[in-house]
Amino acid sequence: MDVPLRQRDRSGLEFLGSLQHHAGGVLQPAAAARYEAAVPDQPAGLADRRRSVGTVLADHGPWLFDRFLTRWVAEEIYVRALPAVEHGRERIDAWLNAGGAPGTLALDPGVEIPDYWNAGFHLTTGGWDGHDLMGVVTRDLGYEYVLAPGGVGAVRTGEDILDQRERVAREAPRRDYRRILEPGVGTGMFAHAVARVFPDAEFTGVDLSRTGLEYAHATARDAGLPWRLIQAPAERTGLPDASFDLAAVYILFHETPPKATAAILRELFRVLEPGGDLVIGDVAPYDRHPAFRAVVLDWETEHRGEPFWRSALQLDLPGLLREAGFTDVEAYGAGGGTYPWITRGHKAA
Ligand SMILES: C[S@@+](CC[C@H](N)C(=O)[O-])C[C@H]1O[C@@H](n2cnc3c(N)ncnc32)[C@H](O)[C@@H]1O
Repeated sequence: MDVPLRQRDRSGLEFLGSLQHHAGGVLQPAAAARYEAAVPDQPAGLADRRRSVGTVLADHGPWLFDRFLTRWVAEEIYVRALPAVEHGRERIDAWLNAGGAPGTLALDPGVEIPDYWNAGFHLTTGGWDGHDLMGVVTRDLGYEYVLAPGGVGAVRTGEDILDQRERVAREAPRRDYRRILEPGVGTGMFAHAVARVFPDAEFTGVDLSRTGLEYAHATARDAGLPWRLIQAPAERTGLPDASFDLAAVYILFHETPPKATAAILRELFRVLEPGGDLVIGDVAPYDRHPAFRAVVLDWETEHRGEPFWRSALQLDLPGLLREAGFTDVEAYGAGGGTYPWITRGHKAA
């Protein structure tokens, strides 16, 4: 939505976006060049890579400032965005609660929340639902002003996160799906990409986040899309067996611990009909990256509120798909790169 911002809120957020752009686009490439020149034979294992980058760049100004600014910007988003949404609360509430949506939103105040979901993601104050307008905070302010210019996490400076979502949706093998499920639908950004690629399919989104679902519901209403949105854990959706022909997942599995990832995959296998497909877009595993890049990604685990990043990026996701029952499992970079990284599977007919 178009959040009514005071000039100082807008300029403060734009400043953060510019800093992130500079850190990711100027400082980080300088650090990468220094490291790669100093270590032509790069180590392979994560522990050795972290030690090597830490030692070689210990007194390298661009590297230290890149990390400092990236952490500071991530914290500062909420320092600036929370007062900004309070200022716009009346209009935001009216937008969120306007009726007339063609779809449905089923919230469950008694939903069973797994412990890991409360792990304080992305340095938010209180996690995914740590503020009652967190959907607007993350999507319209954090994402729009600070993260969209890229240069943080897996998204490089100048890359377009929205375009990347559509690319993932297009990696689903067919074009004639009728019923699509997205676990971890959040504020619905990927869901809109799915709707653009599969305009005739029915769409169901599941998430634990009330604020994310409320936001997604409002955007679906504005776009005239009849989405069915359900507050439930992706591990136990409560949806009938064999009721979807595509499950599409975007950047959920770096937010879940390995046991939850395995449980969600089993659930997706259950709700897919025979002949159905699964497509997943996320960050490529560490072993697909050069040492410096792997260390930059891994840094997110301890410093930018990504508690399951390290375990997720060392996980054998294709192996877990096979264990869940999927066949024809493939893993590759969409467009030949490493992000978005696609993992696909099929439920045999
Ligand atoms: C990074 S967001 C991705 C949102 C969306 N897929 C997109 O790209 O536009 C991850 C979402 O997964 C949700 N999530 C994490 N664990 C979940 C679980 N076990 N069940 C349902 N949703 C979960 C979070 O609440 C969050 O909204």
